[in-house]
Amino acid sequence: MTKSIGILTSGGDCPGLNAAIRAVGKTAVDHYGWNVVGFQNGFRGLMENRTIALDGDALSGILTVGGTILGTSRDKPHKMLVGGKVLDMTDAMVEVYHQHHLHALVCLGGAGTAKNAYRLVQKGLNVINLPKTIDNDIYGTDISFGYDTALSIATEAVDRLHSTAHSHHRIIVVETMGHKVGWLALGAGIGGGADVVLIPEIAYDVDAVAAALLQRVRRGKRFSIVAVAEGAQSRQMLRELQEAQKAVGKDKHESAAATAKTRLAEWESTRTDHTLRLALQLEELTGLESRVTILGYVQRGGTPTPADRVLATRLGTACTDLIAQGHFGVLVAARGDRTEAVPLKNIVGKLKHVPTDHPWLESARRIGICLGEKAP
Ligand code: F6P
Repeated sequence: MTKSIGILTSGGDCPGLNAAIRAVGKTAVDHYGWNVVGFQNGFRGLMENRTIALDGDALSGILTVGGTILGTSRDKPHKMLVGGKVLDMTDAMVEVYHQHHLHALVCLGGAGTAKNAYRLVQKGLNVINLPKTIDNDIYGTDISFGYDTALSIATEAVDRLHSTAHSHHRIIVVETMGHKVGWLALGAGIGGGADVVLIPEIAYDVDAVAAALLQRVRRGKRFSIVAVAEGAQSRQMLRELQEAQKAVGKDKHESAAATAKTRLAEWESTRTDHTLRLALQLEELTGLESRVTILGYVQRGGTPTPADRVLATRLGTACTDLIAQGHFGVLVAARGDRTEAVPLKNIVGKLKHVPTDHPWLESARRIGICLGEKAP
């Protein structure tokens, strides 16, 4: 019987997903002679058995196309909204997998997808993961496809903001995505020549940022660009968060713990306008007019860069080879120019933060970028 493999994309989309689907599919169909079944909209499509045949035609002409031809969702197998109720649908997915007599299921996704895929591994399915995300936060791989494209978009935005900030003598605070890590803000900040870069890994001191901006004014620079990651937080915010987290852990009494959890959720929801508040604070502290640009989803759109196309293609082809060799329950990680099969059990629940001794940070400091650190 001809072997069949399934493939799905889950979590936030990013450029390079179609290039990876194409690479997995072409290697499977043309090189190994297998069938490829695409499941629509992530784990929901697997549960609902919504499929697309990924034959030669479907796999053609998609290398440069952004997003994912399969559609995606953030649905989790064990917590899925079905008929108004949140249910564990893992077993239903296992059934669909067997119904198609799949030899393996390829899941393209980020850190959340790795967790979900691992649940299926624990149910005995042959699952293999490919690392995609614009955040570059997947533990165990040097890099993920999607990051290079988002980095290019964010860098170009920082470039373009220079001329308008310069003309109006303004501070422009530009927010990048990145979830809980700072790779995008740091990369675009260095690449685009930002004056201040604020990332989640370094809780910033707002007075130190204001002082750096005023220092630039004293040097005759009447504008500044502040690149801030969406997950960045001030030292004050970090203290408040840690206190709220402590309260959740400390209160053994059920209702008190619930109140503490609600407070924590409320506190987290105030984060959404963090960048706007930061700009206001900086305007107050420096007397310089400030504006905000939130890059948002533009960073996830459009055609992948050549680097992402190459990465997605080499990880995708390696993935199909690993299936042929019988490697399952792994992430196909990029390691230099090579690939490595990293067991999912070693990476689930972990994030790849910017290490505080990372060379990019040292380079940023050397060229005078303020990272919001308090002067010793
Ligand atoms: O993980 C990719 C990402 O774009 C993050 O940078 C961002 O925090 C999040 O997804 C946004 O998610 P959603 O598409 O669900 O709004």
